[in-house]
Formats: sequence, structure tokens, C-alpha cells
Amino acid sequence: MAILKILTYPDKFLKQPTKPLENIDGQTQKMIDDMAETMYQAPGVGLAAIQAGFDKSVIVYDVAPRDEKRDLHVLINPRILEKEGSVLSENEGCLSVPDFRSDVRRYATVLVEGLDRDGNPVRIEADGFLSVVLQHEIDHLNGILFIDRISALKRQLYTRKVKKQMKKS
Ligand code: NI
Repeated sequence: MAILKILTYPDKFLKQPTKPLENIDGQTQKMIDDMAETMYQAPGVGLAAIQAGFDKSVIVYDVAPRDEKRDLHVLINPRILEKEGSVLSENEGCLSVPDFRSDVRRYATVLVEGLDRDGNPVRIEADGFLSVVLQHEIDHLNGILFIDRISALKRQLYTRKVKKQMKKS
């Protein structure tokens, strides 16, 4: 297994919508293993393939990545079928948006459909933290970062900081 490089804002690759995964083959399994390893090492609660440079509709997540016992979930070609309510996700962050956190308005509950790593159809009805994680990761597959969902003023604070850092290095 390998630790992958996580792309960070403002890398343009992160802005592009991913393609559905057509074949779940050995290469897919290796990508998933590497994505999981990368997520646990970070550590993060979720990782979308696009963040690791793969233009594919795949996410991995574990809402308690620091627990000794891993509870890894894989979703291929996930999509939100139903969404309901509203919740403020507090202090949301992203491995592709280092050193920045913000509250984000999210749906309270979502019904998500996709395939597991063996290609079996799965449906997940989620609320609470898992609901937020699924929305965040599925956003990645559509080229959306959580900073796209906050106020323009807050986003500017971050983008200015990044631009300054880029000039320095
Ligand atoms: Ni993220």
C-alpha cells in the first residue's frame, strides 16, 4: 500500500467533476487501499478519489479514524437520493483545505445510494456527523469544496492567506 499525495486548494484538478467508475477491478482495489491508507495516515474522516488525483467517483470514510479498530467504508458512484432538514456542521475541515475550518450549512439527513467495493448496491440513511461526511465527500466528486459553501467574505479570508503563502514559497 502507498500513501498518496493529497491535492490541495487551489489545485484545479479538485474543481472537476469525476467520472463514474465502470469496472471494479484490481486497479480499483489498489486505489481504494491506497486511499484508505492515506486517509488514516492524515488522519481524516473521509477522502474522495479526486483528492488523491484519481478522476473517479469513489469515496472512503471512517467517522472515527483514530479508533484502534478500523471501520472503513467505501462508496463507488455514490449519489444523494433524498435530503431533508438543515443543520450547521460545526468547524468543518478538509484535507485539501489545510489550516482552515468553518461552520457549513448542510442537510440534516440524507439517503445515499452507491456500490460497495465489491460492486454490491448499498443504501445508507444517515443523520448527524455521518450525514455531513457523506455530503462533504460527495461534493468532492462534483468538484465542490466546503469553502464553496461558506460566505464569500469568509472564503476570501482563506484564499488571501493561501495566495500570500504561495508568494512566499
Ligand atoms: Ni474534503
